[in-house]
Amino acid sequence: MAVNMDASANVLPPEPDKRYVRDKMVWNPAMHAIPISGIRRMVNRAAELDDVVHLSIGQPDFGTPKHIIDAHIHALQAGQTGYTMDAGLPELLTALKEYYNAKYRSTLDEDNFLVTTGATEGIYLLLTAMAAPGREFIIADPTFLLYAPLIRMNGGQVRTVPTKASEGHQIDAERIINMIGPNTHCIVLNSPSNPTGTVYPRETIEWLCQEAAYRGVEILSDEVYDNLILDDIDFPSVLSCATDMDGISVVSSFSKTYAMPGLRVGWIVADQNTIRTLRRYHMFTTTVASTPAQWAGVAALYGDQSCITDMVTEYARRRDRVVELIGDTPGLTGYWPQGAFYIAPSLPDGVDGGRLAMRMLEETGVCVIPGDAFGEHSSNLLRISYSTSMENIEEAFARMMPWLDRQPELARYK
Ligand SMILES: Cc1ncc(COP(=O)(O)O)c(C=O)c1O
Repeated sequence: MAVNMDASANVLPPEPDKRYVRDKMVWNPAMHAIPISGIRRMVNRAAELDDVVHLSIGQPDFGTPKHIIDAHIHALQAGQTGYTMDAGLPELLTALKEYYNAKYRSTLDEDNFLVTTGATEGIYLLLTAMAAPGREFIIADPTFLLYAPLIRMNGGQVRTVPTKASEGHQIDAERIINMIGPNTHCIVLNSPSNPTGTVYPRETIEWLCQEAAYRGVEILSDEVYDNLILDDIDFPSVLSCATDMDGISVVSSFSKTYAMPGLRVGWIVADQNTIRTLRRYHMFTTTVASTPAQWAGVAALYGDQSCITDMVTEYARRRDRVVELIGDTPGLTGYWPQGAFYIAPSLPDGVDGGRLAMRMLEETGVCVIPGDAFGEHSSNLLRISYSTSMENIEEAFARMMPWLDRQPELARYK
């Protein structure tokens, strides 16, 4: 905004609107790093159509358990509406410490945690505080869509490790280790993964933690789906695989585990120096997470955990059926995802998943998310979310299967 220097106006006009000449906003060029979301593109188009079946949902379709809602309401009624301490509500920090020490690592203290506004803020703080020109970040392709833009906005460089549906979207630890060079700053992991549902095995995580530590490379591990493990396997958190906390940061949240994404409470687990630095940064971003929602988080951690088992049992039942349906769907290559509520089957190489998904939405009313939302090398993937009822899943595939069978670009792969 430039001040109005009109000489005839020796007093400011009374109307606030007329006091300034408004120039067009000139954004920081870093804003170009933020793409138009491939998810929004699909969901916005879907909103214009009738009778859409969504396999596009990125949040639990279950209600938040009652004891968590009650705790939230109770906190509001008890006047818990002020700011908390900058690191988070002390009771929540203690609950997190106890929870994590029982689950993954027995050496954590309250000051290894910073409570954030969802895992999203944790990712934002860590990546933007680390990314700088000349620094490289290694990420899987496809992977959760926030990482690459946040790295690039701050001048960092993204190096991708493509994964394939035919290999269950597993990452190749050796390949990542061979990519590490003098400019490598951080490896970003997300297991179970959005969009693939892949859980990386313990050997992979241990190997990466060990090699990263030798080479002074950071590991940021996004573990928001760590409780949504659909088979009887152990989940190897980075916290249980690394020998010490140096260079290790984990982000997580209540959003998926307790079906409360709108309450916006997450956290970072890291060494005490990292937390101390990020507390300062956190003060300049969101200050603190919502106070009553943090009390809801305390209730979630101390309350009955059977809500998680119930949700996981239902996600696993749907996963089994979705894998079976994908196996019978022309043109799709599936695999066995073990976590979260997603699968990212592939179309044959060279098929543009973005166009196909949009046409499929318009012609059948089934909304899936094309892989290009999650990585430049993933345009032949489709992300299917089974965070929806079994009836919707059956209906969606009943529409998709004959439609895909008729598509000319898939005909030669039959
Ligand atoms: C892999 C991954 N990380 C982080 C988030 C953000 O979660 P939150 O609601 O805690 O900000 C999501 C949400 O979809 C996600 O899928």
